[in-house]
Amino acid sequence: MSTLDEGIKELDDLDTFFSFLTQIGQSHRKIPGFKPDYFWKIEKPFLEAVKMTLGDRYTENVENIYKVTIKLILETLEKGYNT
Ligand code: HEM
Repeated sequence: MSTLDEGIKELDDLDTFFSFLTQIGQSHRKIPGFKPDYFWKIEKPFLEAVKMTLGDRYTENVENIYKVTIKLILETLEKGYNT
């Protein structure tokens, strides 16, 4: 969660954001038995946590923004793993 938090904070500096997540994705190659689709296990719990945190502020528009954001983050981790 703190990596995702860092990632989101760095969204205004896209180069740093992508290279940070790519490196973390790549670092998981050394974990025995790890599969890159494991990254996606965080998708639903992450969105659930955002929903719980934002309460009334979790509008359909906000939900869509977070869905796109987490997808982009997870795709970047996966790409990092596969490079
Ligand atoms: C979105 C999902 C995930 C994120 C953002 C994430 C992030 C991180 C970060 C920041 C580190 C420490 C720094 C590094 O070694 O690069 C780390 C280490 C680690 N992660 Fe993940 N991780 C994720 C998913 C997973 C999953 C699904 C597993 C196992 C099934 C896993 C297992 C590990 C292990 C074992 C380490 C320690 C590696 C070591 O110290 O040698 N991670 N992860």
